Amino acid sequence: MNPTSRLFFALSIPDDIRQQMIRWRAEHFLPEAGRPVAAASLHLTLAFLGEISERKCQTLRDLASRIRQPAFTVTINDTGQWPRSGIVWLGCRQAPRGLLQLAELLRSQAAHSGCHQSRQPFHPHITLLRGATRPVALPAETFSWTIPMTHFSLYESLYENGHTRYQSLSSWSLTS
Ligand code: 2AM
Repeated sequence: MNPTSRLFFALSIPDDIRQQMIRWRAEHFLPEAGRPVAAASLHLTLAFLGEISERKCQTLRDLASRIRQPAFTVTINDTGQWPRSGIVWLGCRQAPRGLLQLAELLRSQAAHSGCHQSRQPFHPHITLLRGATRPVALPAETFSWTIPMTHFSLYESLYENGHTRYQSLSSWSLTS
């Protein structure tokens, strides 16, 4: 790892569901709607840490390893656009309590460790398209993906050859 790294905690999405998501995207959005996020990069962020030192990272890893929270199920059944940030996303009409609790805990641990946290309310989402600053016609939610979340992970965001990719550094189980 570099002296500082751009890190975030997130929930991973199983590969078969990521494939279904990109198929749905290809069927419903024109290429000019925005830049598609690669299937391998689809994830649901819990807490963004920003560019942080190895020491701070270790503190946050230690705290993460002590989290004892039950597993939960996320149903992805909503879509929307935030034109200001140029994002088209997938999300849940009703986020499960476990997801909100886990994000709240990770975000408060991050804030206590000096990682700036957005004041915007947490809106769990999976970014599908970037650069979507013009309003796009959003398709009807003809999908519902139910995902059992059994672990959460720490990811590093790496910028290489003009592309961003996310690498999982560690994962922690949610108790069953
Ligand atoms: P986004 O997909 O909504 O842009 C890696 O960049 C992950 O961290 C993405 O899920 C991204 O969310 C999120 N992220 C990046 N910058 C952020 C910030 N300042 N606040 C909250 N989340 C951020």
